[in-house]
Amino acid sequence: MRTRSIRAATLSDVDRLLALETDSFASDRLTLRSFRHFVRSPTAVLRVMREGADILGYYLLLFRARSEVARLYSIAVDGRHRGRGLAAALLADAERAARRAGRMRLGLEVREDNAPAIRLYERRGYVFTGRIADYYADGAGARRYEKRLDRPARGRPREADD
Ligand SMILES: CC(C)(COP(=O)(O)OP(=O)(O)OC[C@H]1O[C@@H](n2cnc3c(N)ncnc32)[C@H](O)[C@@H]1OP(=O)(O)O)[C@@H](O)C(=O)NCCC(=O)NCCS
Repeated sequence: MRTRSIRAATLSDVDRLLALETDSFASDRLTLRSFRHFVRSPTAVLRVMREGADILGYYLLLFRARSEVARLYSIAVDGRHRGRGLAAALLADAERAARRAGRMRLGLEVREDNAPAIRLYERRGYVFTGRIADYYADGAGARRYEKRLDRPARGRPREADD
């Protein structure tokens, strides 16, 4: 049986990440160059969900100095594997990564016509904080959400930061 895991992305993942990005987003896509940059960036966390050699999904978190809010810049799951809770697992991992980096809140923007993603965030405790008109390249508006992150329980073993 092939085990599923969420791990830090490496440079060998970027071609597959670009294919996933192209399938998942019609506009405002990350480029190969930006994936390469974020693999190495100290102010980003780019993690992939793997099953054997396959990449089933990924997320990208960005940090700003002196901000207690981490930003979920992107999250996507391979179209063949949607509706099985993989995005929820990636989101939970992103929340832990943000907390490990000392952030108290996780913020994000989502297209206002993206019902699956809006449902994902609202069901997992993200609070609507406002709308931004004309946010995406094609003129679509965004909904902005934020979630306060739990403190890690004292004495709980740290998860691998790989
Ligand atoms: C949004 C996305 C990441 C969800 O991935 P997923 O693995 O299918 O999501 P999950 O199976 O973990 O489901 C999470 C929640 O979303 C909801 N959801 C998933 N697909 C849905 C759909 N087609 N319609 C409505 N709700 C949907 C589910 O109801 C689920 O909530 P529940 O389990 O509490 O009922 C995926 O559709 C995707 O990659 N889309 C393209 C990229 C994208 O839009 N990313 C978000 C950018 S902000």
